[in-house]
Amino acid sequence: MGGPPQFVGWVEAGYESRMQVDGKPTRTIWVESDGTCVGIVDQTLLPHRFAVARLKTLVDAARAIQTMQIRGAPLIGAAAAYGMWLAMREDASDEGLERARASLLATRPTAVNLRWALDEMLAALRNRPRGERAAAALQRANEIAEQDIANNRAIGRHGLKIIADIAARKHGKCVNVLTHCNAGWLATVDVGTATAPIYTAHDEGIALHVYADETRPRNQGASLTAWELGQHGVPHTVIPDNTGGHLMQHGMVDLVIVGADRVTAQGDVCNKIGTYLKALAARDNRVPFYVALPSPTIDFMLSDGVAEIPIEQRAAAEVACMTGKTADGRIETVQVVPDGSPVANYGFDVTPARLVTGLITERGVIEPTRAALAAAFPERLATR
Ligand code: MRU
Repeated sequence: MGGPPQFVGWVEAGYESRMQVDGKPTRTIWVESDGTCVGIVDQTLLPHRFAVARLKTLVDAARAIQTMQIRGAPLIGAAAAYGMWLAMREDASDEGLERARASLLATRPTAVNLRWALDEMLAALRNRPRGERAAAALQRANEIAEQDIANNRAIGRHGLKIIADIAARKHGKCVNVLTHCNAGWLATVDVGTATAPIYTAHDEGIALHVYADETRPRNQGASLTAWELGQHGVPHTVIPDNTGGHLMQHGMVDLVIVGADRVTAQGDVCNKIGTYLKALAARDNRVPFYVALPSPTIDFMLSDGVAEIPIEQRAAAEVACMTGKTADGRIETVQVVPDGSPVANYGFDVTPARLVTGLITERGVIEPTRAALAAAFPERLATR
């Protein structure tokens, strides 16, 4: 992995992108124009450095997901699909196929998009002769990436109506949206899920402002959401994670939109740790709480999210330490807890369906209920 630091990515490869970095259309993942490897935006370096990493092997792809160079449920799925392509170039045997699936599946446990994408790849490759598997894998991975973009654009269109209605009720005064973690462009191939309605409304000229929860311990809100909103010119304020309830009590939040890593058949929502507390505060203050997700995030095999969804626990160092830029521009990591204090680092929590106002999906805004999910995605129900 690695390679020269200069950035050649998507423009040469002929991709289009809604999102821009320094005015350049930019996706989070792409196949390099010479077809040799997969390019990604290395998210561990943001917001202080924008750099690209190149994935050449299955091991590179698995490591990039595990170390969170790429993260966010839909992007993890797309990255795993491209990882299967890289794997098929190395070993297209049946054993190679199964080994690649197992090693990618083991990278992160909570976002179900990973398993969904790997199942899609397996279905596309299993019955093909070895000699065709690499080409077929690339084709299916590209389709998965394109589908993610199409889903997010549709989520943007459906979510726009929610924001436009609030703007109309406020007679055009600024709509304040609170979001948690990064369910933005950087968590997907392009556009984002929770940010899709935000970008769409902003581009339509609706006045809005986003409160971005910092999202300890990895600070995806402070480092990633704030950065990408800034790149797109969306007014925003970063807030400490505990601030949302206070803002809601004072009428400073019109709606909450978050993403999801897994939504169960009954509509329970698993998302970044701290989401549940925002849902409780929103309910107490009658603030609408929406979850934006593409259908690969739905897990029809599970019902009770609290009991059944596997919650990732990550390294203690993520809580014990913080990394940032010093006044003279160096990136440094410092410890913020006493030597020897134990820490707990649960990556996600579950918001029960009863606290969710609506699920913004590519097929419209639906109720967080078993019946509504089944009616909206009958084909997913049939294949579970
Ligand atoms: O641990 P991360 O950064 O992968 O977690 C990301 C989130 O929790 C996002 O909110 C979720 O994946 C939705 S992404 C559109």
